[in-house]
Amino acid sequence: MFDVLVIGGGAAGLMAALTAGQRGRRVAVLEHGPEVGRKILISGGGRCNFTNRTMRADRFLSANPHFVKSAISRYQPAHFLDLLARHRIAWHEKKLGQLFCDHSAQDIVQMLLGECAAAHVSILTDVRVYDVGKSDVFRVQTSRGDMTARAVVLATGGLSIPKLGASRFTYEVARQFDLAVVQPEPALVPLTFGGEHEEWVRALAGLSLPVRVTCGKMAFEEALLFTHRGLSGPALLQISSYWSAGESLLVDFLPGQDLAALLMTLKKEGSKAKAAGALARWLPQRLAQAFAQQGAPERTLAEWADKDIRLMAERVHRMELRPQGTEGFAKAEVTRGGVDTRGLSSQTMQARSVPGLYVIGEAVDVTGWLGGYNFHWAWASGHAAGEVA
Ligand code: FDA
Repeated sequence: MFDVLVIGGGAAGLMAALTAGQRGRRVAVLEHGPEVGRKILISGGGRCNFTNRTMRADRFLSANPHFVKSAISRYQPAHFLDLLARHRIAWHEKKLGQLFCDHSAQDIVQMLLGECAAAHVSILTDVRVYDVGKSDVFRVQTSRGDMTARAVVLATGGLSIPKLGASRFTYEVARQFDLAVVQPEPALVPLTFGGEHEEWVRALAGLSLPVRVTCGKMAFEEALLFTHRGLSGPALLQISSYWSAGESLLVDFLPGQDLAALLMTLKKEGSKAKAAGALARWLPQRLAQAFAQQGAPERTLAEWADKDIRLMAERVHRMELRPQGTEGFAKAEVTRGGVDTRGLSSQTMQARSVPGLYVIGEAVDVTGWLGGYNFHWAWASGHAAGEVA
């Protein structure tokens, strides 16, 4: 008999296990893959962007935007940095408060395994979990036989990157216990385009530039990358989490500048440049050419009507693009949606209607921005559950 069975040996599951183990609980982690922490190992280009200095609730998407507040205020970036310091793991800050390991993401997995070992947590890999049932205690049927526990923590993550062992397990068990699940969708994912946009985007494949991209009320100003399949890059990945099928994006290819004023100055100076040459002063040449080919006057800037200038500025600052879809879970960094937070305590992650059942990490309807927020949610929610389970 265990006190706590954690199903899923990812970031959240390992944090919950070591926290409960440190409290003297008898804990086992059941992982169906050959090793734990596989997403940690591939994250952040192998250096794991493990948290972010700016930890605020508005950096997370959820049907309940307040849900994350309790966990992230009790487990802050400084707490994770203390843990790294105890293990002498060096780190550095990149842009926008993003914190990465100096050496390797492997350091984080070793640290979590070291903490689990010190807390006498059993880590069982290559275990199939067939069923979770509850009477007075939980009975978990596995490929290693039946196990019983007073608490079960569901931590099997989302659906992204199926080849790394993603499964619907947590959603299925949640439904079995009458917990609602918000439809899981790919997030932080490249978007694809069809029709005229497809041709336009493809022709620019390989190009990257800073833009401001808006969807509804959300906007991100960062790099955009044109690919052979569509659009990617940090700005696009961020906005993809807020995009739903049928919606348009507005892209400002020259954020913070006033193209109409710039072109007007050229006109007044009697510029002999044509559209592509003029735009290439501020935009990458290929993009300048692409805009010039979209119905710009053949004449030199000096001969443009004011209306031509206004039209070009409108196109560059407010290009409307309607994505056809996403590149799906195979390419999504995370899953948005998941176990509905209305069924969970925001203090402990415990199911309100099923004492002893906890849901943590990406499996919950909480999705962070790009930049270390998803791991931080894994640490914070895992810690919250591990403190009480
Ligand atoms: P996670 O997916 O990590 O773990 C779930 C575990 O459960 C896995 O080990 C899985 O094998 C196991 N499992 C699944 N089904 C099971 C079953 N039926 N039985 C038993 N075990 C089962 N985030 C960030 O903040 N910074 C970053 O740098 C990155 N980088 C990044 C790169 C790439 C390529 C991806 C795909 C994702 C990221 N992320 C990220 C996101 C981050 O990896 C993710 O949000 C966390 O790993 C979520 O942690 P969880 O523990 O909830 O799930």
